[in-house]
Amino acid sequence: MNLWNLMRPLLFKMDAEQAHRWTLEKIDDYPDLINNFLRITSYLPTPDQAVEVAGLRFASPIGLAAGLDKDGEGIPVWESVGFGFVEVGTVTAHPQQGNPQPRLFRLADEEGIINRMGFNNLGSEALMHRIIALRELNMWPSIPVGANVGKSKITPLEDAGNDYRTSISRLQGLVDYFTVNVSSPNTPGLRDLQSAENLKKLLDVALPAAENTPVFVKFAPDMNANDLQEAIDAVIEMGVSGIIGTNTTNSRPFGTDRYGETGGLSGDPLWSLAREQIQYILQVVDGRVPVIGVGGVNSPERAQTLLNMGCAAVQLYSALIYKGPWLISEMNRQIKR
Ligand SMILES: Cc1cc2nc3c(=O)[nH]c(=O)nc-3n(C[C@H](O)[C@H](O)[C@H](O)COP(=O)(O)O)c2cc1C
Repeated sequence: MNLWNLMRPLLFKMDAEQAHRWTLEKIDDYPDLINNFLRITSYLPTPDQAVEVAGLRFASPIGLAAGLDKDGEGIPVWESVGFGFVEVGTVTAHPQQGNPQPRLFRLADEEGIINRMGFNNLGSEALMHRIIALRELNMWPSIPVGANVGKSKITPLEDAGNDYRTSISRLQGLVDYFTVNVSSPNTPGLRDLQSAENLKKLLDVALPAAENTPVFVKFAPDMNANDLQEAIDAVIEMGVSGIIGTNTTNSRPFGTDRYGETGGLSGDPLWSLAREQIQYILQVVDGRVPVIGVGGVNSPERAQTLLNMGCAAVQLYSALIYKGPWLISEMNRQIKR
């Protein structure tokens, strides 16, 4: 889409976080205008592209990954971009500012992103109110909306279960699925929650709050094979409905090390690591629950690769920054079941 060739340089002139904020504010200010414009210019999924995942009907297997729309400001418009499902959050039980800025960096040459946002969000209570308002205003989309929940920074790791439980209880009945995020690298200690033992404790407390709403668990690409296998077996035994892999990486593939910023790396440089980890996740899961693949998906071909490997659906974030929202139309045109 040529329009993106015009828009991208303007957005890239702004600081990365400023461009992100500006875009979400415009969406929040003019949802009808932006919706109409997107609907005219986007190619939406056809009914035969719908997939069933954990009992939910995704309009297509392509979804928005968590982190772009933490507070749900864009909920009314993502469907018009052509997404088949969307994940908002991460939200935490307590509102929090996140890490000091700058904390979001474009790796323009590599089409990657490094972020150490640290779960800046208005909190799960604010998201609950936003969702109730959107539903009352008839601005709720027809595609499934999931809420990704994480641990508040001020909550000690021992109390993590209650923190997740609080957010899930507030949003229960308002969203279509939950993702328990234990894999973001920017909350100290969070990834310790990925061990089988800690996940069992956490889910024991948090899972009942979801009642009949499907719960997915999202893992990092940096876990070793043994720990990951134990963790996956544990969460499936506990009754989770699916696995999402992967989050951003702490590692620095060649070429990205020169940026010297700490935080999670995503986008094109994550692709080969994520794909390998997703392959392993699929092998361990062995069809017991659906797997949603994410990490470096930036073309219809890559999305198709993950689907062909056995993923029930895929998500993306970073490629939207580099390729623009009409990338989703291209995927809808080309992806085959
Ligand atoms: C700026 C930024 C913020 C993110 N925030 C979150 C988050 O809050 N929760 C989460 O589970 N994943 C978060 N992610 C990870 C993405 O959901 C995704 O797993 C990862 O970026 C890999 O996909 P991608 O290469 O398509 O971006 C974030 C990613 C980026 C780039």
